[in-house]
Amino acid sequence: MNKTAWAGLLRIAALALTLASGQALAADGFELAQTNGCFVCHQAATQRIGPSFSDIAAKYAGKKDAARQLSRYIVKGTGPAGLGWQAEDKAMLPHMPGNSAVTLKNSLILAQWVLTEAGMATDKTRFVTHKISVTGQVRQPLELSIEDLQQLPVLQMKMIPPGSHSEEKPVPIIVRGVLLRDILEKAAIQAASPHDAKKSAILVTASDGYRVVFSWSEVFNSPIGEGAMLFFARDGKPLTDDEGRIALASLRDNSHSRYAKWVSMIEVRTLAD
Ligand code: HEC
Repeated sequence: MNKTAWAGLLRIAALALTLASGQALAADGFELAQTNGCFVCHQAATQRIGPSFSDIAAKYAGKKDAARQLSRYIVKGTGPAGLGWQAEDKAMLPHMPGNSAVTLKNSLILAQWVLTEAGMATDKTRFVTHKISVTGQVRQPLELSIEDLQQLPVLQMKMIPPGSHSEEKPVPIIVRGVLLRDILEKAAIQAASPHDAKKSAILVTASDGYRVVFSWSEVFNSPIGEGAMLFFARDGKPLTDDEGRIALASLRDNSHSRYAKWVSMIEVRTLAD
């Protein structure tokens, strides 16, 4: 074995030791998941395009070498045949594409994080938000509680709850909330010119790291805007901790891909040329 290969092995051994000491790395796992786009498809406790991290952790509970196995899937993807999460109705894609930008070291940190911290996040109360902030390119940054949201134009809309299976006849619920458009109008998007404002993106972030993006034209200049809504009540009752207290839905989309619980922040970013 040559010198570099040894150095590599030693580094992995050193990493294994750090991983064994646990905790300190948890925050890094979260950050890596954020920077590598894992939350586009995964959430800690809720199924999205991919299975929830807690379902993955449960699948591997007590299995030896699980971290190594998962780190391989993370970098290389789960292969054309997939692992069957979709067949079990726990994913919306047949397999995970490779995340080739993730280094070996980071894939091990992510794997360990999925198996522990992220996967244990079944206690959803820790994600609950009671107010949202509106920040970024706005003239008037805001902090809005549910009571504050109720001072804005409130409307009710019909929604098919996410997670309804296609075979069942879906039962719509009535959600009560405020259009993203009205919140942004209160905060007033700041841009050098109206033309520049049109180039902004609106990022809605949830406290579990999930993120939903809208373009300015979708929100202000298309039917999507009439359904992009922050809601806080369903069927006349406040949302529960599990439902998010403050949640986001895009009711004019064809699918449920833009839906977030536990919304914590709305951020306006102007895209530079
Ligand atoms: C494009 C969507 C997408 C992205 C991005 C994505 N995943 Fe996945 N992931 C999936 C899907 C779908 C599955 C289920 C695959 C299957 O059944 O084969 C999956 C499976 C997994 C598994 C394996 C589950 C098992 O049974 O072994 C792990 C671990 C995982 N993802 C972690 C991650 C991490 C960490 C990231 C970020 C670096 C990430 N994923 C990014 C969609 C995605």
